[in-house]
Amino acid sequence: MMSAKGKVCAVQIVLCIFVPERTFVCCMFHSIKVAELKKETEDCVSILLDIPAEKSAVFAYAPGQYLTFRAQIGGQEVRRSYSLCSAPSSGQWRVAVKRVPEGRFSGYVHEQLQVGDELEVMEPMGSFVPRIHDSEPCRYVCFAAGSGITPMMSIIADALQKDKDAEIDLFYGSKKTDSIIFKEELEALKNTHLHRFQLHYVLSRERLQSEWFYGRIDGEKCAHYGKYLFDPRSVTQYFLCGPESMIKAVESSLVSLGVPSDKISYELFTVPGAVQSTQERAEQRQSLGQTESMVTITLDGLDMTFIMDESDDNILDAALHQGADLPYACKGGVCSTCKAKVKKGEAAMAVNYALEPDEVDAGYVLTCQAVPTDSTVALSFDE
Ligand code: FES
Repeated sequence: MMSAKGKVCAVQIVLCIFVPERTFVCCMFHSIKVAELKKETEDCVSILLDIPAEKSAVFAYAPGQYLTFRAQIGGQEVRRSYSLCSAPSSGQWRVAVKRVPEGRFSGYVHEQLQVGDELEVMEPMGSFVPRIHDSEPCRYVCFAAGSGITPMMSIIADALQKDKDAEIDLFYGSKKTDSIIFKEELEALKNTHLHRFQLHYVLSRERLQSEWFYGRIDGEKCAHYGKYLFDPRSVTQYFLCGPESMIKAVESSLVSLGVPSDKISYELFTVPGAVQSTQERAEQRQSLGQTESMVTITLDGLDMTFIMDESDDNILDAALHQGADLPYACKGGVCSTCKAKVKKGEAAMAVNYALEPDEVDAGYVLTCQAVPTDSTVALSFDE
């Protein structure tokens, strides 16, 4: 096992950086003005971004995608990802930021951010999006809890507007009526699309008309809804967004109702507790039989090659130590901002809460979770 000192040695054995005149930096952050701040609930503020016309093409997005923000707070760089809650067809870019206890970025947004301020924003990313097949009707069932509603707003509004035959059920868990984020917008969507959008609130601190809508969304409730409120066989895609416990419970309930897992898309909005320690990563690499590898990464057409040994936790951190400015946000395997395609050799991920099976099959990895399992590995952030 290498010590922390060993890590310094690893940094010193950079092989080469093939960028004689340009630096190897990530160009994906843009300075964007805040156009509006809107209080959605007591602890949730939405930010409308003023994307200039000349950047609207690079900021084009699919419903369900997210933006990554970067800010210097208290002398430290902080990155956070937030789902877009606006529909692409609205011509707006809006995210919602729920205040979390001791959250540095959310505290900054709630206490300091002003209209007219500039935020550093990365271009939209994410694969929590509708998979539209022309032959299939648009029949969605969505399960959300708390701020997990944000990508759903985009997905639901976009589908209802673009497809006159779209039918959607939303089961949305909140604490009580006044903590329901986007309540007005949801009610307006329901009233506009009375027969196509069914809205079901599930409240944990306020009793509604039925016990089935009291408490937290869990597997038992999901099975009940699948029996009485929607036909699991006719649904073309399920969307789940919330804490890991809800997602796991609903996913396994849907599978037991006979739903194929490739119809279930989910997105966590928190980094799960079980993140591997450095020691666990090193042990994983030893067990994979590959403790030192030559890694080449490509970003914006430029290559960087370095030696990664067992003192490096993952490919992303190893490259950042070499001075690369790569895209990342959560570093917990959740957001997919650090996604890259393996072009040569192989790499194994510790956890993956973000990539779809078809992306993994196509060779994509989350570099914040990946270690090389070959002596030579090449990855591209450009594909
Ligand atoms: S930085 Fe979020 S998954 Fe890697």
